[in-house]
Amino acid sequence: MRELVLLTPRSVIRPFDCGDDDLNSFLMEDAKSHFESRLAFTYILQDKIETIAYFSLLNDKILRKNSTGSSWEIIRNLFPQEIRYGSFPAVKIGRLAVSKSFQYKNIGSKLLSFIKIDLLKSPRSAFRFLTVDAYSDAVGFYERNGFVEMQPGRNGQTSIMYFDMAKLR
Ligand SMILES: CC(C)(COP(=O)(O)OP(=O)(O)OC[C@H]1O[C@@H](n2cnc3c(N)ncnc32)[C@H](O)[C@@H]1OP(=O)(O)O)[C@@H](O)C(=O)NCCC(=O)NCCS
Repeated sequence: MRELVLLTPRSVIRPFDCGDDDLNSFLMEDAKSHFESRLAFTYILQDKIETIAYFSLLNDKILRKNSTGSSWEIIRNLFPQEIRYGSFPAVKIGRLAVSKSFQYKNIGSKLLSFIKIDLLKSPRSAFRFLTVDAYSDAVGFYERNGFVEMQPGRNGQTSIMYFDMAKLR
């Protein structure tokens, strides 16, 4: 049986390998301290034996300085003239990773859909965008899930991407 649980300091983290050392070690070594410091909350998809996938969420904002001129215009034009601010509230997917043995089975895409719908249903604090710093290899995956590149990564750096929550209305 699979379950999605919030990681807390008392969680026992079951074995996980997504093929990326940074993402593996964040889960194993840093996710609990990020929870305690309220810097990021991590959710784990697990079965009885192993960790299948995880993602972390934190608050963010989209800033003009983080976007190219044309992508900033596209973002600002989503809003009426009188509320075209210099930044817009967002929630960031700090990390998302699927275990190697479960990749290419649509789990990453299903988790993105879950995040979108779950946050949409929680009306306490407003935000307009989901953001992610995507590895260059994962840009296509996020594009297929409705994300747009705001600042393409150069020389193998991550690309800043966003998803407009208003698409779900
Ligand atoms: C990227 C990742 C989250 C996608 O999850 P997933 O469950 O495998 O994805 P889905 O089955 O929903 O979608 C398949 C798409 O994911 C992407 N993908 C799958 N495995 C991948 C991998 N090892 N690295 C990068 N992208 C991958 C591909 O774009 C694939 O599309 P394609 O079949 O057209 O090539 C997952 O593969 C992963 O954790 N990869 C390693 C870590 C990583 O790159 N995380 C993203 C950090 S920004």
